[in-house]
Amino acid sequence: MSEGVVVVTGASGYIGSHVVANLLSKGKTVRATVRDCNDTERVGHLTDLDILEGGSLEIVEMDLFDSESVDAAIFGTTDVIHTAAAVIVRSEDPQSKIVDPSVIGTQNVISAIEKSGSVERFVHTSSTAAIRPENWEDGITLTTETFASDATLEENPYGLAKYSAEMIVREWHENLEGAKKLKMVTIHPCMVFGPPLSSRHLRGSLSVIMMLVNRELPVILPMQINIVDVRDVAEAHVRALTMGVDKGRYLTVAGEMMWADISKILKQRYPKRKWPVRQLPYYIALIVCAFHPKVSISWAKRHLKNKLYWDATPAENDLQMKWRSLTETITDTIPNIIDNNWK
Ligand SMILES: NC(=O)c1ccc[n+]([C@@H]2O[C@H](COP(=O)([O-])OP(=O)(O)OC[C@H]3O[C@@H](n4cnc5c(N)ncnc54)[C@H](OP(=O)(O)O)[C@@H]3O)[C@@H](O)[C@H]2O)c1
Repeated sequence: MSEGVVVVTGASGYIGSHVVANLLSKGKTVRATVRDCNDTERVGHLTDLDILEGGSLEIVEMDLFDSESVDAAIFGTTDVIHTAAAVIVRSEDPQSKIVDPSVIGTQNVISAIEKSGSVERFVHTSSTAAIRPENWEDGITLTTETFASDATLEENPYGLAKYSAEMIVREWHENLEGAKKLKMVTIHPCMVFGPPLSSRHLRGSLSVIMMLVNRELPVILPMQINIVDVRDVAEAHVRALTMGVDKGRYLTVAGEMMWADISKILKQRYPKRKWPVRQLPYYIALIVCAFHPKVSISWAKRHLKNKLYWDATPAENDLQMKWRSLTETITDTIPNIIDNNWK
């Protein structure tokens, strides 16, 4: 990798922060974009990161909707890791709150890359949500051959956002010619767990763990969760800059576990705290979901009980990824939460 500048969008975020940490631990020159440089919850943990000799960290303000700020953030860089997106699955206004940040934001990022003329590598953070179709057969293993092309604004706005943003990247990249051609890879994590670095990191995928920590549920829904460690996701992003194939589509998935089994691991590892461990029978869970304001019966029928698997061997082969064990990932999620008394 030439010793240029790597810009990481969404650097205040859970995955973005770990990507920045990973790059700095390798002595890279990093430009980290955040929405508010004065917010310690967004930047405090970044300025505290260890930097290997030769590396450096510059933090700049950028909003995905402000194309001038996106142009300025990307200007003069050689590598772009675009993690920024709205990580929300439900909203009163899904178009502006969920889809637009991904779609308009990604359009602004690729436009800035073109204008810069200096970017040689682009890694875009996608998701299993850009792959998973609305309906799948119980027990199926999905690969990167599949696209979530049936995601709709009404049923699955987050899937629509991630699928649409990835398509924008791929179509744009396909049409680049001559000197403008650069390496492009998309990374597709499943549910990401592992150490949060800021209290803001508890709101996305870690809300699944926080429901257990805060004992929000006395009993647990019978749901399988596909898991990957945030530190492995960060490593895959950084490796994808120099390893793997151009146009690569890499799933990052370490394995899967029932939600109740995650709680059992936490109970064993942190026995002084109380953890819910009783799993609701499927039909009772369906009735609970039918009356719950945040989930629907159609969601419950699709997601409860059914098993879904992902083929992450391309990342294992091309990026030489080895995944942390699920037990290590789940266990390591907790200390920062307890030590900082994050709720
Ligand atoms: N966590 C998972 O399980 C998971 C799984 C698959 C894929 N992903 C993908 O991974 C990426 C990062 O997710 P995450 O879990 O790290 O979520 P996160 O902690 O919410 O981070 C999202 C980042 O995007 C930034 N952002 C949001 N809207 C923005 C805007 N308008 N302008 C500039 N920045 C904006 C946020 O900034 P603020 O701090 O200012 O809000 C934050 O830095 C996303 O693309 C997500 O879709 C996540």
